[in-house]
Amino acid sequence: MAERMAKGNGVSGIVVIGAGQAGASLVARLRAEGHGGEITLIGAEPVPPYQRPPLSKGYLLGELPVERLFLRPTSFYDEHGIVLKLGTEAVAVDRAARQVALADGERLAYDQLVLTTGSRPRRLPEAVGGGLDGVFTVRTLADVDAMAPTMTAGARALIVGGGYIGLEAAAVARKLGLQVTLVEMAERILARVACAETAAWFRALHRSKGVDLREGVGLERLEGGPGVTGAVLSDGSRIAADLVIVGIGVAPDTRLATAAGLAVENGIAVDAMGRTSEPAVWAAGDCTSFPWQGGRIRLESVQNAIDQAECVARNLAGAAEPYRPQPWFWSDQYDVKLQIAGLNAGYDRVAVRPGARDGTVSHWYYRGGVLVSVDAMNDPRAYMAGKRLIEAGLSPAPSVIGDPAQDLRTLLAAG
Ligand code: NAI
Repeated sequence: MAERMAKGNGVSGIVVIGAGQAGASLVARLRAEGHGGEITLIGAEPVPPYQRPPLSKGYLLGELPVERLFLRPTSFYDEHGIVLKLGTEAVAVDRAARQVALADGERLAYDQLVLTTGSRPRRLPEAVGGGLDGVFTVRTLADVDAMAPTMTAGARALIVGGGYIGLEAAAVARKLGLQVTLVEMAERILARVACAETAAWFRALHRSKGVDLREGVGLERLEGGPGVTGAVLSDGSRIAADLVIVGIGVAPDTRLATAAGLAVENGIAVDAMGRTSEPAVWAAGDCTSFPWQGGRIRLESVQNAIDQAECVARNLAGAAEPYRPQPWFWSDQYDVKLQIAGLNAGYDRVAVRPGARDGTVSHWYYRGGVLVSVDAMNDPRAYMAGKRLIEAGLSPAPSVIGDPAQDLRTLLAAG
C-alpha cells in the first residue's frame, strides 16, 4: 500500500457503488492507472462481480460452470488492495458529508464516489400475477439459479417479451426440450433494438425451431396460486404454463442518485467525462445517460459498461478524456450468432446484403445517407467490414452494399 500511496494522484479514497460489469472494470482500471488510494467496491449481490451475458445463454443451458462467470478471482481484489463489500446495500449518499450510508448502519467516507448501479428488470405487477411462484426475471445469477431447475423437457414455458432476453431464453428453452410460447405486446419482436428485417429473420428462425411466437399480443393476467398454471392473453386466448420468463425491459437504477438530488435524465446524467451534476460523484454504465450528438443517450450494453467505466477511471486519475462509445452488441440464439456494430438510433433506411452461405445475411442501417449500424447474422465478415466502415466514417450507397457481388474489402480500401 505504501508504494500505492506514493503513486497516488491526489484523489485518495474512492468508493464505487455497484459491483456489476461497470464497477468491476472501473476498480481494476483505477489500479492499472496507478491510483494509490483506498478503493471500496460495494455490491448488493452476495457474489463477486460476474459476466451477465452468459446468464441467458450458456449458463442457463447448463453448459458453463458458475466459476467461469466470475470476472476475476477474489484473490485479484485482495492482491490489488480493493475492498469488496458484497451482500451490502448502499441506501443513501450524503453529498455534504461525503459519506455513503449502508443498510447495516455503517457509513463510508469518500473523496470521490462512482455510481455503477446498472439497471433493474421491469417486473409484472402483482395484480396480474407477477408474484406467483414460477415467474422469473433474467438479470442476476440468483434469478437464473432459481429458474434453471424448472426448465425440464416437456415443461410449458410462457415467455413474456420479444427482446433479446425473451428470444435468448426461448432458444435455450427449446434446446432443453420445453414447449415455448412467446408473446410480444408490440406489433413485432425486437422493435426497440432492431429493424423489421432483422425481426423477420429471427421470427422465422424461432418458428422453425417450434416456438409459438405471437406478436401484437400482451398479457392480460397470469393464473394460478401459489404456482403459476397459465395465462390469459390480451386477445382473450388462454394458455397453460408451468413457468413464465419475463423479459419486458429494464430501467436504469437511479434511486440513490435521485434521492441525493443529482441530475437524472433517462439515467444519471453525466457529462462527457462521466461526472454527474455533483463534481465529486461520477457514474458509468447502464445507469447513465451521456452527451451524444447534441442530445443524450443511455446504452444498455456490456461494452458500454466496460468502456465508459474505464474512461471514468482514467478521468479519476486525471486524464480529462471525453467518452466516445464504439458500440457493439451480440446475441446467440440456437446456432446463430448475431453481431451488431454501431448504433441504429434514428435510422431511415435499411439495405439487405445476402451472405455468402445459406442462413447468413446482414442488414445495414442508414440515417440521412450515413451508414450508422450493421446487424450481421452468422456473417462475421460483414460485421467486421461494417464496423470498420462506420469507424472510418465511410458510407457506401445502399445499392452497393445490397449487391452480394460487391467485395466489401474494396469499399474499405477505396476509403
Ligand atoms: P427489451 O427492452 O429489449 O425488450 C423487451 C420487450 O418486451 C419489448 O419488445 C417490449 O415491447 C416487450 N414487452 C414489454 N411489456 C410487455 C408485456 N406486458 N407483454 C409482452 N411484451 C412486452 O428488454 P429485454 O429483452 O428484457 O432485455 C433487458 C436488457 O438486457 C436490455 O438492455 C437488453 O438489450 C439486454 N440484453 C441484451 C442481450 C444482448 O445484447 N444479446 C441479451 C439479453 C439481454
